[in-house]
Amino acid sequence: MIRVGVIGYGYWGPNLVRNFGELPDARVTWVTDLRAERLAAVASRYPATKVSASHADVINDPDVDAVVIATPVRTHFELGMAALRAGKHVLMEKPLASTAEHASRLLDEADRRGLALMVDHTFVYTPAVQKIRQLAQAGELGELYYYDSVRINLGLFQHDVNVLWDLAVHDLSIMDFVLGTQPVAVSATGLAHVSGRPENIAYLTMFFESRLIAHMHVNWLAPVKIRRTLVSGSRRMVVFDDLEASEKIKVYDRGISVDGGPGDVDLMRIGYRTGDMWAPQLAIGEALHAVARQFVDLIVTKSPSPSDGPAGLRVVRLLEAATESMANQGRPVSVVDAAAS
Ligand SMILES: NC(=O)c1ccc[n+]([C@@H]2O[C@H](COP(=O)([O-])OP(=O)(O)OC[C@H]3O[C@@H](n4cnc5c(N)ncnc54)[C@H](O)[C@@H]3O)[C@@H](O)[C@H]2O)c1
Repeated sequence: MIRVGVIGYGYWGPNLVRNFGELPDARVTWVTDLRAERLAAVASRYPATKVSASHADVINDPDVDAVVIATPVRTHFELGMAALRAGKHVLMEKPLASTAEHASRLLDEADRRGLALMVDHTFVYTPAVQKIRQLAQAGELGELYYYDSVRINLGLFQHDVNVLWDLAVHDLSIMDFVLGTQPVAVSATGLAHVSGRPENIAYLTMFFESRLIAHMHVNWLAPVKIRRTLVSGSRRMVVFDDLEASEKIKVYDRGISVDGGPGDVDLMRIGYRTGDMWAPQLAIGEALHAVARQFVDLIVTKSPSPSDGPAGLRVVRLLEAATESMANQGRPVSVVDAAAS
């Protein structure tokens, strides 16, 4: 039985508490939050769970095996480091930390102590994203041409992170998992429409060594909600619409063929292939349940996780590079060394 302490019971924390509580081999023994009303909510729903306003109560309890951290991003490093130093396994909410240096130090600490460190990259655990990865990795899409995503709505304006760290983190974690290859450079532009607040709209472009390009559009100030991703290759194209109740993924057997050599552009002919579309059957299940299951398996059987510490660090490096580029009106930032290390 893995005894879990959850730090942070705001918007997302309750989902984690519920999903860990549903595992037969885990038990949530502690929940902490700074706000008394949130602790009262825990006490009324889970009377057997201990509550505290101090994270130290959880971290210092020898009867706690693992700590789940669902607090604002700026607190991730400090809380994660304290938990690891106390010998606890850590599941961190996305993103792993607010700088690559902090993310790296968390990885080192976990490695040195032989502790599990995982990030809640929730989308990686959805059947839809797992299907896209399977198609891409099996070569069903052919040579990968582009990754294009839009994640916009009238969203909650965060005050400690810009829209990239809040929304693009999802797309970067999906891209990391699906493509299995890392960009070499990042360019981002964006703006804050509320003075003194972080950027609420951003356009992020990533370049790869191959003929692959990725683009992400994220926005807290849109009148409609869109959650759409296109992954396109030379053989097939996939459209993932997360707002579709069923048929979230559609695979199109569409594309082009080029006749004639590149030597003579006048003779070159583009042919269009418009084949069938199919919507693969997807398993049903809450992604966060799979996240909780994976974390316990990582602790108990060391079963590899697709959102382990290194995956968390790769995503934070891209977010950091994008934020740097955005501060310089889109100047490309190389991430070659980061990808190699
Ligand atoms: N995986 C997802 O899909 C998903 C969705 C939403 C949020 N998140 C992530 O979850 C985290 C929390 O986001 P949220 O929307 O729940 O924020 P929130 O502000 O609603 O909740 C955070 C809670 O943490 C508490 N807190 C802050 N510092 C604390 C401390 N030192 N000890 C104990 N409690 C503390 C606050 O009182 C608050 O109740 C963020 O990292 C966010 O990115 C992930």
